Amino acid sequence: MAKAKTQFVCQNCGTVHSRWAGKCDGCGEWNTIVEEDPMGGIGSGPGKAPKKGRAVTLTALSGEIEEAPRIPTGMGELDRATGGGFVRGSAVLIGGDPGIGKSTLLMQAAAALSRRGHRVIYVSGEEAVAQVRLRAQRLGAADTDVLLAAETNVEDILATISESKRPDLVIIDSIQTLWSDTADSAPGTVTQVRTGVQAMIRYAKQTGATMVLVGHVTKEGQIAGPRVVEHMVDAVLYFEGDRGHHYRILRTVKNRFGPTDEIGVFEMSDKGLREVANPSELFLGERNEKAPGAAVFAGMEGTRPVLVEVQALVAATSLGTPRRAVVGWDSSRLAMILAVLEAHCGVRLGQHDVYLNVAGGYRIREPAADMAIASALVSSLAGLALPADCVYFGEVSLSGAVRPVAHTAQRLKEAEKLGFSAAVLPAASPDLPKGSKGKWREVDSLPDLVARIAG
Ligand code: TYD
Ligand code: MG
Repeated sequence: MAKAKTQFVCQNCGTVHSRWAGKCDGCGEWNTIVEEDPMGGIGSGPGKAPKKGRAVTLTALSGEIEEAPRIPTGMGELDRATGGGFVRGSAVLIGGDPGIGKSTLLMQAAAALSRRGHRVIYVSGEEAVAQVRLRAQRLGAADTDVLLAAETNVEDILATISESKRPDLVIIDSIQTLWSDTADSAPGTVTQVRTGVQAMIRYAKQTGATMVLVGHVTKEGQIAGPRVVEHMVDAVLYFEGDRGHHYRILRTVKNRFGPTDEIGVFEMSDKGLREVANPSELFLGERNEKAPGAAVFAGMEGTRPVLVEVQALVAATSLGTPRRAVVGWDSSRLAMILAVLEAHCGVRLGQHDVYLNVAGGYRIREPAADMAIASALVSSLAGLALPADCVYFGEVSLSGAVRPVAHTAQRLKEAEKLGFSAAVLPAASPDLPKGSKGKWREVDSLPDLVARIAG
């Protein structure tokens, strides 16, 4: 057999190069390319005879399991994000910044599942068993039957898991600490992480246990190590939040067995994570209703409406190039709104610094926030506070026209529920709730909106 050639793999994105280079073509990172054995660990045994499989028709399968069997944790927000609970035999990757609360969340989930009679094993590669226990104690989980192990070697982990009675859920904290005897590269490299994750996924598929893998995120916001891991698992969830704020959002970015636009909202307390069933109240918590520059956006996160305050500060500048600073929103989208205000509404902001902030460290991802942002900007520039009982939503196009967005009825219902009696929304919005007492003001263009605020 020909000797396997070594290859050069970027540790950041997994791009394979034929020779070493300082910079990776795939992701542009420097000094991330490492020489690796391509056959490292994965079925490199010689002369394995191919096994014939059997293909079946879809109709022959009808009548078999209809829904993926799930294990709900009973933590509403976690179950919402996973689409109704962990699917048996699946692998779930939970990514997030170090210190954001991944281990806390999973220990709480482990305790909740254990209380419901499931067997859970928590394998920590980062902390000693005593440390994990200490945290469990703080979370009020020390009285549960969650099994703890401190291992980093893949073969040892699998042996440990198999020794205990078949677990329903295995938590590996974290994939960056995994290393295998079969892959001969240093721990933490792409090959090691990939081999480790592959072994864990194989175990899950074979035994029907759910495998929950924790992954740290790099400063660029990707899961450290090979990006290919995201493709290997069935679901990817990100645990996000701002260190300066208490709440955390569990966001689904990939889910083979459920929706990908759901979020779970939690609040970090001294006794661990608390579920937040109504995020709007949280994001509107410290509102100053009389201040100019604040507008309430009626947004959507998956199937759930979320009301959040956007704050703008527009101030005259002495700088040649005025400052534009944005937190919680896309800065190129802000540039677009400013350009439309300037070109179509005669709102000149070339001599003004513009600061934009979304309250509470929340991040808006919907273009539907355009109208709320524009309203906040105009309100700040004019020094006029917006009506305190009004919400705003709608997408703005480059021509200055305002476009309807999805879920109008749900947004308005949530606004009414929280005491807002008015809304500024795009003209011709579909499914406006009938018979509602709210004052819905329809605008068809951005100049129309500006005239209403300033006039
Ligand atoms: P941790 O779950 O260890 O984060 P990760 O696993 O994502 O690295 O959480 C770390 C932070 O959470 C730490 O700064 C302390 C804080 N924390 C609390 O505020 N309350 C708690 O009950 C716990 C367990 C942690
Ligand atoms: Mg941790």
